[in-house]
Amino acid sequence: MSERYAVIGQPVAHSKSPWIHERFARETRQDIDYGLIEAPLGSFARAADEFRAGGGKGLNVTLPFKEDAFRYCAKLSPRARTAGAVNTVTFGSEVSGDNTDGIGLVRDLSGNLGVELRGSRVLLMGAGGAAQGALGALLEAGVAAATIANRNEARARELAARFSVAAKGYGELEGGFDLVINATSAGLSDEAPALPAGVLAGAKLAYDMVYGRDTPFLAAARAAGVNACDGLGMLVEQAAESFFVWRGVRPDTAAVLRELRGR
Ligand code: ATR
Repeated sequence: MSERYAVIGQPVAHSKSPWIHERFARETRQDIDYGLIEAPLGSFARAADEFRAGGGKGLNVTLPFKEDAFRYCAKLSPRARTAGAVNTVTFGSEVSGDNTDGIGLVRDLSGNLGVELRGSRVLLMGAGGAAQGALGALLEAGVAAATIANRNEARARELAARFSVAAKGYGELEGGFDLVINATSAGLSDEAPALPAGVLAGAKLAYDMVYGRDTPFLAAARAAGVNACDGLGMLVEQAAESFFVWRGVRPDTAAVLRELRGR
């Protein structure tokens, strides 16, 4: 019988995760069934308990429940602890929480996009959950220097202090970055962090974790002559790592990413 998994979030109707995981399962001949759970705010634990009681084996957790999932899990991986959030729950004899977002970003950058992270100078914009999830993985991948910039500068300083990296307000930034990553949600409302002119100059890549739309940040990067990429590859790579956590097999992400991009 198929083993049951699902993505839980709010809203979740347009999630690409069921499609991606079903594609992975077909390719690796794993017998799974992957659904969607739209849970009301404040009811993550109840919905997760119900899914588990019905035989569910694991959950992907998306906004706004990643911190709820962190508190829900009895056992946490080092990646989940560093991120302070859980995106992958496994129901075994106990409930284990992991976080595959950071490694998903790193694999997309270094594997799919050919970015040399070791020794690179990175500007990470944003200080919310997405930035927090990325920072530990970037440092582990050997970036030489990371700078956190955020609209709310106090939040940037708080996150930077936890990881002993630099913090700045957007207005204070100058150039000198190899890689600029937008981990803010600004693109979702067609906005962009207020970067001073010249910050992107010389960067090898501008990366927006938002996917499926051309954000003003990506448009500005292209206008400045900088390579620009959205976060669709990160989505596929974090899904592949979750699939590996649950099933112990690694799907081929390149084919799935090509298909999602429609080429
Ligand atoms: P997430 O989990 O997606 O990171 P979050 O914790 O709500 O969500 O954080 C959203 C991030 O996007 C924050 O860094 C926020 O900046 P502030 O901390 O200053 O609010 C950033 N953000 C959202 N809209 C933005 C905008 N229009 N310009 C710049 N930053 C923005």
